[in-house]
Amino acid sequence: MKIPAPAFVLVLVGVACAELAPPERSYKILMLLPVSSKSHRNVFMPVAEGLADRGHKIVMLANNPPASKHPNIEEFDHDLPDFKVEGMDLFATRADPSGVFNLFQKALPEIAKKLYKVPVVKELYDRRKEFDVVVIDHMFNEVVYPFAHEMPFITIATPGMDSRQSAVLGNVLNPAYAPSLMKSYPLPMGMLHRFLNAVEHIMSAVNWRHLDVLPPVQKEISAQFPDLPSLLDIERNQSLTLLNSHFTMNGVLPLLPSQVEVGAMHCRPGKPLPEDLESWISGAGSEGVVYFSLGTVAQGHSMPKKYRDMFVEAFKKIKQRVIWKYEVELEGISDNVLMRKWLPQQDILAHPNVKVFITHGGLLSTQESFYHSTPVLAVPIFGDQPKNGLNIQDSGLGLMLVWEELTVDLIVNSLQEIISNPKYETTAAEVQSSLRDQPDSPKDRAVFWTEYVIRHKGAPRLRSPAAKLSWVEYLMLDVLLALHVAVFVALYVLRRVLGAIASRVFGSQTTGKKKKKRE
Ligand SMILES: *[C@@H]1O[C@H](CO)[C@@H](O)[C@H](O)[C@H]1NC(C)=O
Repeated sequence: MKIPAPAFVLVLVGVACAELAPPERSYKILMLLPVSSKSHRNVFMPVAEGLADRGHKIVMLANNPPASKHPNIEEFDHDLPDFKVEGMDLFATRADPSGVFNLFQKALPEIAKKLYKVPVVKELYDRRKEFDVVVIDHMFNEVVYPFAHEMPFITIATPGMDSRQSAVLGNVLNPAYAPSLMKSYPLPMGMLHRFLNAVEHIMSAVNWRHLDVLPPVQKEISAQFPDLPSLLDIERNQSLTLLNSHFTMNGVLPLLPSQVEVGAMHCRPGKPLPEDLESWISGAGSEGVVYFSLGTVAQGHSMPKKYRDMFVEAFKKIKQRVIWKYEVELEGISDNVLMRKWLPQQDILAHPNVKVFITHGGLLSTQESFYHSTPVLAVPIFGDQPKNGLNIQDSGLGLMLVWEELTVDLIVNSLQEIISNPKYETTAAEVQSSLRDQPDSPKDRAVFWTEYVIRHKGAPRLRSPAAKLSWVEYLMLDVLLALHVAVFVALYVLRRVLGAIASRVFGSQTTGKKKKKRE
């Protein structure tokens, strides 16, 4: 059941406008995401635009050509070639998942070496103290932490909850039920899964921070900024993090006041479609429409031919019309398929006649499917997508398929199951209504807390005292050790005392007996 747009425009936008007090002055905000994909930038954009709408000046350093036309947003692209995920062959990484990891190992030290030599970056660094706050993409962007030294700074957790970042803020998540960043097990977890999950929690942090990735980056940065504290020490001084998650979509976890959930912030009610799309979709009649897109990073044309052929065949066998986001011309497709290079995804998902969304399960697409209550057939490719796909399946919003197991029949049957079984639509409507039922919009929340950190000069009262503890102190290992020693000493003393008493009492008796015998 899709809810008509205007009602929600009133609920979300109306309430929000009424509640945010006008800003005290125009702030200067520096947003840094030099190691990012377009989808990471898409998480930053609503925050930037929300702040810009309130008269603040935003300067953004990213990895892609400028995207916003807002007069208060100034975007820079550092244009280093080392981390260009768009156009990468992500299907190849399925056979060898270490490929993605190797990319970071290679690219990040290179970027650390070159970034501050790029004129625009150097210039920004030199005038960084002019800004009121620095906002950094927490994922992959440690290389810009020198900007945050002696500055109020906040992070945006673009992938949502990341246990290793949560621990930095002082919230160590319990691996008995909190999923790790890249993998999740069905809940509640049995003994084996809790064991594996605990290992994932620990190893993902240790690998990234202390073994494979960060040390060479740190080396490059130290060479250029010998007087700065370590990147990990600077990271600890963050005031706040905006999490790209929401409990209705990602499950409930304990959060600190400095961890603010703003997931689905980029989602908005659907707008009217261009006429040709509108008539294609409504012209599909009661059978409805299937929408197929693999997102911005994994472009459709990188899909291996054998899989592409399966989809082409499967679409021949279904009664629905199909809208397929695909970047190049393709031959042999049936009449019920409409292909386009670019499509207004949210407006399509919002259309009541769109019955299924076939997606790679990227986080933003997943959020859009929840927000627009469109049942999903997920075919995850890499990274956190399998986790999102599993989440979709577990929450009853759709089904997940594995590329290597695909067949034409499997695609057709999965689509028919999702379309004909009403439970997916019912669940989707439930999730949608609880996701949209919020006292303020996630975007306004992001704006409010960013301004809050500026108003309160880094908001020291937001900090959890736990952030100052080492892991030995946090886990009370020193106290447990002291307790063990105390118990051990007490037992030892007790034994000696009892021994002494025993030898007094029984010892004199036995010697007494012996004496008697001798007599
Ligand atoms: C830590 O954060 C506070 C408040 O945001 C800031 O004033 C201070 O300079 C920062 N300290 C360091 C060492 O970066």
